[in-house]
Amino acid sequence: MSITIKNAADITAMRVAGRLAGEVLDILTPHVRPGITTNELDRIAHDHMVQVQGCVPAPLNYAPPGYTPYPKSICTSINHQVCHGIPNDRPLKNGDIVNCDITVIKDGWHGDTSRMFVVGEGSIAAKRLCQLTYEAMWKGIVKVRPGARLGDIGHAIQTFAEGHGLSVVREFCGHGIGRKFHEEPQVLHYGRPGTLDELKPGMIFTIEPMINAGRRDIKEAGDGWTIVTKDRSLSAQWEHMVLVTETGYEVLTLSEGSPPIPAFVAGAAA
Ligand code: MF3
Ligand code: CO
Ligand code: CO
Repeated sequence: MSITIKNAADITAMRVAGRLAGEVLDILTPHVRPGITTNELDRIAHDHMVQVQGCVPAPLNYAPPGYTPYPKSICTSINHQVCHGIPNDRPLKNGDIVNCDITVIKDGWHGDTSRMFVVGEGSIAAKRLCQLTYEAMWKGIVKVRPGARLGDIGHAIQTFAEGHGLSVVREFCGHGIGRKFHEEPQVLHYGRPGTLDELKPGMIFTIEPMINAGRRDIKEAGDGWTIVTKDRSLSAQWEHMVLVTETGYEVLTLSEGSPPIPAFVAGAAA
């Protein structure tokens, strides 16, 4: 078992899959409003993936060892839900925060990305958590270059999040991705600089920190999938898929509707 190195053709295919996943979030964005149900979001995303993009929704019936098959085409995690929330018939309410996590399969290649949405008017605390979690993801992304180590990414995210009084979920991590949904390596969102695998050009993995406003402890909610914070504090997550290039990184899941890149990122528009 080892980390796959993607060749030029693989990378071309992963760019397409990544952009398509981002575009599903773009088309969901105007729909994420008070009153819509997450089942309706699931149907909109499913139909776009299948009928417009010619993609397969990777979550549908996904069944890693020890799990029951995932029943929907996207994940929607609301408020204290950390990840893997299952769409249902409850309407979103003003002030909810919701993560929509999209994974498409295009021509056999996976594209995986997620964003936070604030439903209607969010509280200051909710908006702050979403924004700081977005910045935490980018603090990890900017560490990506040949010769850096996975521990550098985790350390950057952890230091930033904890420095703002937030906590990092330990049990779920980013992952290598390609022909398989979840490949090596595991990309922890905490850690020590200079540790773990060295990054090499052609590696592709996700960075997808789950950050809690309260304590880091989590539990499974009882449906076999949904993860929630034990203290019921708010949790946020963002996810991009990143390629290690010869000189640094390329984010593969950017699309028209991606939020502005933080100013601390070299090359970000002012
Ligand atoms: N998209 C998630 C990730 O980022 C995995 C979801 S698995 C599912 O790794 F089955 F819940 F969809
Ligand atoms: Co992922
Ligand atoms: Co995902």
